[in-house]
Amino acid sequence: MRFLTVAATALALTMGAQSAFAAPVEIKFSHVVAENTPKGQMANKFKQLIAERLAGKVEVKVYPNSQLFGDNKVLEAMLLGDVQMAAPSLSKFQKYTKQLQVFDLPFLFKDMAAVERFQQGKDGQKLLTSLQSKGLVGLGYLHNGMKQMSGYAPIRTPNDASGKKFRIMTSDVLQAQFEAVDAVPLKKPFSEVFTLLQTKAIDGAENPWSNLYSKKFFEVQPYITETNHGLLDYMVVTSAEFWTELDDDLRVEVKKALDEAIAFGNEVAAEKSEADRQAIIDSPRSDVVSITDAERQQWVTAMKPVWKQFEGEIGKELIDAAEAANN
Ligand code: LMR
Repeated sequence: MRFLTVAATALALTMGAQSAFAAPVEIKFSHVVAENTPKGQMANKFKQLIAERLAGKVEVKVYPNSQLFGDNKVLEAMLLGDVQMAAPSLSKFQKYTKQLQVFDLPFLFKDMAAVERFQQGKDGQKLLTSLQSKGLVGLGYLHNGMKQMSGYAPIRTPNDASGKKFRIMTSDVLQAQFEAVDAVPLKKPFSEVFTLLQTKAIDGAENPWSNLYSKKFFEVQPYITETNHGLLDYMVVTSAEFWTELDDDLRVEVKKALDEAIAFGNEVAAEKSEADRQAIIDSPRSDVVSITDAERQQWVTAMKPVWKQFEGEIGKELIDAAEAANN
């Protein structure tokens, strides 16, 4: 009897200790870019804010540079509970929803202010819920910036791209965009781009300034044309299961910290698209090529038919709404 009482007391003490010292909820945040990028800085800021505000309750672990998962695997891993947050580029969701393809349409947004207006407007906010039926929750958009085209030879007109191999993200719209100028698009993971360029297995790529700079693509691409032909932005996502199982008060605090981290990341994006562009211009490794309005118009004429090609999947109203954000 005495033994039973002692055992029961020991059990009660252990259980009490367990709840008092319950392990914090872990948020593994996986991404593919370097830490000195808008996404890298945003993720680190999020980790810092959570550590300051929710120590012992929630812990964020950031895995940059495709250390944990590449973007082709991360969403599956999220649905399995192996990772809780990620911010893939908007070009990488096509398996989960066709609507986000709107962001890939070439020459759709005239600048980042237009992108911001669309994302924060009614239609952009609705798109955050477009992954719901697949078990994913969009928590917010994060900017990187406009993409530039790079190559071994100067690319001024669509003719210069013809027959050349370009690495693209896993997006059929981007595939159609390069096919529209008779180029050869190849869907490859971000982690392979440097080697593909360095070994000349491909001729070129499209990237925003911060990725060109932080991954040293500019060192293996002697010409970068300032085309601003498309967008590379992100959606921060989590799984519906993780998000709904989080205690209500923690969910509110985590979302608040994330919103602040995103606002910070957007400031970094604006600064980096200027600073990293300038650093590349100043570097002897790469020439930045400016094109004339007439040359730009040739790209627009060649690539804009892609809008019509994807109108059925994306929806004309959504495309019109995105275009209207330019005004
Ligand atoms: C890419 O694959 O080029 C981008 O998605 C990388 C990134 O996350 O910026």
